[in-house]
Amino acid sequence: MIESVATTALTEHLALVPGVYTVVDQDDQLRLLAGSRAATFGAVQTWKRDLLHQLAAGPCPARDLAARDHAAGFLTALHAGGWLETEVGRAQGPLYTLQPTRRPVPASSPTPDELILSRFAIVHRERDSRHLVVESPLAWARIRLHDPALLGLLTAKTPAAAGLAQVPQRLADRFLHDLYRCGLAVPVGGAEEEAFHLRQWSAHELWFHQRSRIGHRDRLGSGYGRTRWAEGLFEPLPARHDPYPGPVVALPTPDLERLRRTDPPLAAVVEDRRSVRTHDDDTPITLEQLGEFLYRCARMRADSGPEGGRQLGRPYPSGGSVYELELYPVVRLASGLPAGVYHYDGHDHALRSVQGPGPGMARLIAAARRGTFEQSTPQVLIVVAARFGRLAWTYEQMPYSLVLKHVGVLYQTMYLAATAMGLAACGLGGGDRETLNEVTGVGYTDESAVGEFLLGSRPATQ
Ligand SMILES: Cc1cc2nc3c(=O)[nH]c(=O)nc-3n(C[C@H](O)[C@H](O)[C@H](O)COP(=O)(O)O)c2cc1C
Repeated sequence: MIESVATTALTEHLALVPGVYTVVDQDDQLRLLAGSRAATFGAVQTWKRDLLHQLAAGPCPARDLAARDHAAGFLTALHAGGWLETEVGRAQGPLYTLQPTRRPVPASSPTPDELILSRFAIVHRERDSRHLVVESPLAWARIRLHDPALLGLLTAKTPAAAGLAQVPQRLADRFLHDLYRCGLAVPVGGAEEEAFHLRQWSAHELWFHQRSRIGHRDRLGSGYGRTRWAEGLFEPLPARHDPYPGPVVALPTPDLERLRRTDPPLAAVVEDRRSVRTHDDDTPITLEQLGEFLYRCARMRADSGPEGGRQLGRPYPSGGSVYELELYPVVRLASGLPAGVYHYDGHDHALRSVQGPGPGMARLIAAARRGTFEQSTPQVLIVVAARFGRLAWTYEQMPYSLVLKHVGVLYQTMYLAATAMGLAACGLGGGDRETLNEVTGVGYTDESAVGEFLLGSRPATQ
């Protein structure tokens, strides 16, 4: 076991974690606020305010602070609530800073001899900084590394072996203890490998899940939700996709008034909806049907906006009315429409040719076929792509989770429209990663595929 380490040979400096506000409430109680968290620290007193000002101004030697009158109890309470970051180092300078992101959780056991970096810990460079940080969605603190060689201590037995000859063993032990107690390092062969509730998560999915929900992380100063963070920094993306230069196929517009009278009732459509993966290639889907389907699902329409104004929208709902999704019909077989990859221009209700049949199109169709366990070679594969910047200009932390929610509402709209029209439809849960970008020439981080939907004529037997 690593002993609990005395701090005498180490330097320890304390500061308030970033993003903390101090307020005095109507009962003269001192309150600290950060993001969605708040805590009360008794009656406001001058010495408390002075101490907080000092802690807010930057790292102060812990020993000097503790020696001040009354301070010890107050500092203990601030530590217990996760309001203080601790910079640990030696005379030559700091080595790391432990920065709580929420209330600390006491370690359930002494620090084991053999530790390993948590599978969920990620080391990355902080934005606008040269510092590396170690973070995990399961840890109550992140650690800023003033010297990245410190991580070598997880595998090396001694500081010298980790290339840290100047670091006393006691400080190395303290670092490993801190990694363990905040959840960034775990015992070898522990619950991360053995318990289902942890084994079921891959690191990127747990990060994505945790970071796309509102929570403690906004204590560290980053915004969440509709902050419009890019305003003044970057131009917003226009609502309309740049038109592809290829030939344009005008699509017939359905008579919506007639459809309101003749469509099956909603209850029948919802109840009859099924995933149908096979298509009737003897009587393929027609250009008119594809046009009606796209019009009913994804055309741009002028809706009534707030206060009687008009705003652009589509038949399916979209967070912030941003509409970042683009539809690329990949047509293998359709009556009245040459095969090829098209982009649906919902403003003009037209298809613009992106590329004719070739290896790119074949790869997209083959990946979709694999997604149905080789049951279906679709007549039309609708690849749904997202122009990420449309949402990411406005939203922080969770725009990608919004994209996937939008894919869900679009899928259901497409399922219902196809059912009402007597077409075969099936959503897919995964698809080809980069081929659409090879076909369109658009950058992967600007716009790429996020969904796939099979569409075709429905066999009489289905
Ligand atoms: C998001 C989503 C992903 C899906 N992924 C696939 C898939 O990859 N392959 C497939 O054959 N069916 C897929 N389906 C269809 C489901 O298998 C189908 O909805 C489910 O079996 C229920 O059957 P039903 O749609 O006929 O009611 C998906 C459906 C949804 C909504």
